[in-house]
Amino acid sequence: MVQQASAPAKVILFGEHAVVYGIPAIAVPVSSLRAYATVEASDDLFTIVTNDIKKNNIALSVDLNDNNNSLTKMASFVFNHFKQEIEPNVKITLKSNIPIASGLGSGAAVSTALGRAVALAIKQTISNKTLNKFVYEVEKIHHGTPSGIDNTVIVYEIPIYFVKGKDIQYLEIMSPFHIVIADTGQRALTHEAVGDVQKLYDSNPNDTKLILDQIDHIVQKALISITKGNITRLGSLMTENHQLLQKLTVSSPKLDKLVGVALEAGALGAKMSGGGRGGNMIALVERANIQHIKDALQQAGATQVFDSIVQ
Ligand code: PMV
Repeated sequence: MVQQASAPAKVILFGEHAVVYGIPAIAVPVSSLRAYATVEASDDLFTIVTNDIKKNNIALSVDLNDNNNSLTKMASFVFNHFKQEIEPNVKITLKSNIPIASGLGSGAAVSTALGRAVALAIKQTISNKTLNKFVYEVEKIHHGTPSGIDNTVIVYEIPIYFVKGKDIQYLEIMSPFHIVIADTGQRALTHEAVGDVQKLYDSNPNDTKLILDQIDHIVQKALISITKGNITRLGSLMTENHQLLQKLTVSSPKLDKLVGVALEAGALGAKMSGGGRGGNMIALVERANIQHIKDALQQAGATQVFDSIVQ
C-alpha cells in the first residue's frame, strides 16, 4: 500500500524580519502549492529519495549517516520520539511543487511532509505540536536563528498571528481575499538578509528601531482590517509594509519592479514576502483582476505566477 503525507507552502502577509525582533507577524498557508512524501514498502533498507536540485533534479537517496542533512535529521527525530530502534523497510519519496529559496517555505514544507511520512512508515501519528518543534530544529540548520513563523504556519496549515516564542494564535479571516504570488526567479538566502538587518540594527539602532516600530503599527492595523474584512485597507497596509522593508534593505530592484507593476495593474496592495533580496512578492487583488495582474507580472519578468485564496 502506498501512503502519502503532505504540507503546504506559506506566505508572510505582514511583519517579516521585524518578527525576528519580537514584533508580531501575520502568515497564511498556500494550500495549492505543496510538498509531498509517499511511503511504500520496500525490500531494501529504509531510504529517503529526493530530487537533487544541484544535479539536474535526478532522484537520489539521502545519506542517512549524514547528521547535517536536514532530511536525515527529521527522520531520526521521529524515530527517536517513537523509540523506534529498527528502521522500517520502507522507501519515502519526496516531491514538491514549491519554488525553493524564494520565501515560500519550501524547506519547512518538505521537512513537515517527511516527518509525517516517517511517522506513517512506523504506523504512528505525530501531533502537530511535536512536529512543529522538530521542523523548527531542522530549520535552524539553514536559517541559524529562525523566528519559528515558517514552521508554525506550515505545520498547522492555518492563518496565524505569530509572536516569536509565544503560543500559536489562529487568525480568523472575516472576508476571504485573493493574492497573486510572483517569483522574481532570484534565489536568496534568508539568513544573509536577516544578518544584514542585524548589522543595520547594530550600526544604527535608533533609526532601525523606528522602522521596526512602524512595522509593528502596520501589523496591528492589518490585524484589525483582517478581522473586520476591510480588504482595501489591508492592501494599502501591504504596500506600506513593503516601503519599510525597502528601508531595512531587504527588497531588490526586481521585487520593487514587480510590486510597482502589480499596483499599476490595479492591485489593492503589494509587497515582497519572506526573507527578500529576491524570491517572491505578493499582491492583494480583486477576483475580477487576478488574470490581468498575473499577465502583467509575467510580462514584467516574473518567472512563475500563482494565485491563492486566503480564507
Ligand atoms: O523563510 P523566509 O524567506 O520566508 O523568511 C522568513 C521570515 C524572516 O522573518 C525573514 C525570518 C524569520 O526567521 O522569521
